Amino acid sequence: MYEITDVSFRLLCKKYGAGLTFTEMLSPMALARGNKSTLRLFDVQFKERPVGIQLMGQNVEEIKKAIKVVENKVDIIDFNFGCPVENIVKQGAGAALLKRPEKIREIIRAAKSVTKVPISIKIRSGWDKKSINAVEIAKIAEEEGCCFITVHGKTKTQDRGMETDWEIIKQVKENVSIPVVGNGGVNSPEDAKRMFDKTGCDYIMVGREASRNPYIFKQINDYLQKGDYKEVTKKDKIKFFKEYLELAERYQPKFRYIKYHAMYMTKGIKGGKELRLRLSQTKDIKEIRKILQI
Ligand SMILES: Cc1cc2nc3c(=O)[nH]c(=O)nc-3n(C[C@H](O)[C@H](O)[C@H](O)COP(=O)(O)O)c2cc1C
Repeated sequence: MYEITDVSFRLLCKKYGAGLTFTEMLSPMALARGNKSTLRLFDVQFKERPVGIQLMGQNVEEIKKAIKVVENKVDIIDFNFGCPVENIVKQGAGAALLKRPEKIREIIRAAKSVTKVPISIKIRSGWDKKSINAVEIAKIAEEEGCCFITVHGKTKTQDRGMETDWEIIKQVKENVSIPVVGNGGVNSPEDAKRMFDKTGCDYIMVGREASRNPYIFKQINDYLQKGDYKEVTKKDKIKFFKEYLELAERYQPKFRYIKYHAMYMTKGIKGGKELRLRLSQTKDIKEIRKILQI
């Protein structure tokens, strides 16, 4: 996730049971040109493997060059065909590609022509309600040899608050034989079980809830295996953030990332609104430590 899944956060998710994590979406053009700030975001470490990089772009020549820059450090290269952000869509990338399934095929084929690293893709259900084409794109992913497909059950034009459509994930699962990762609206272990039961998907991807509670992966795994899980207390939340902070002090992401994590991970704490306001005004780690008394 953009400005969220830095290496420290990925390591924390891994510690608490995430089977696979990804970098935030990165621009192939910036990677291919050796852009320093993008290379800094490509912060994968050996000890977090398996780890994937996510690329977001549509120019196959740049994609091929970017793959050569990153392939030795990652276990999976994922393509983002679902980002709805307007300036990405305007460039013809992210969710814009849902309108061009053959371009998606070309990108996967080009990527596979230059690397042996497994390729996956992440899509939405379609551009809008009238053009739901996740099954068509999933079949392309399968034909072109992708190792799995992640389906976020929302269209590009769907509003943020609207419910995720898990039925489309089920349809994709019924129509391809590569593993299907269900995504969207899993905010609790019970949601995870419901997603598996309703869609038959092989794996689940958790986004926003992980940013609030990286322990969600352990909770989900426990619930699926034992039918029970430990609730997260205020003390736990502070502990998880402290663990993140210790990693961040080592890996040095931009301070903005640290501040966001402080704010996300204190969500749900009593009096948290005022706390987050104070956190939002911090300028360095020392100030964050003082506010959270850690
Ligand atoms: C702040 C933010 C940043 C995101 N960045 C990315 C990204 O870089 N790549 C991507 O595939 N999805 C990104 N997403 C979408 C999530 O991966 C996920 O598909 C979506 O939030 C639905 O899953 P959830 O309900 O578990 O959050 C982002 C979402 C948010 C809220």
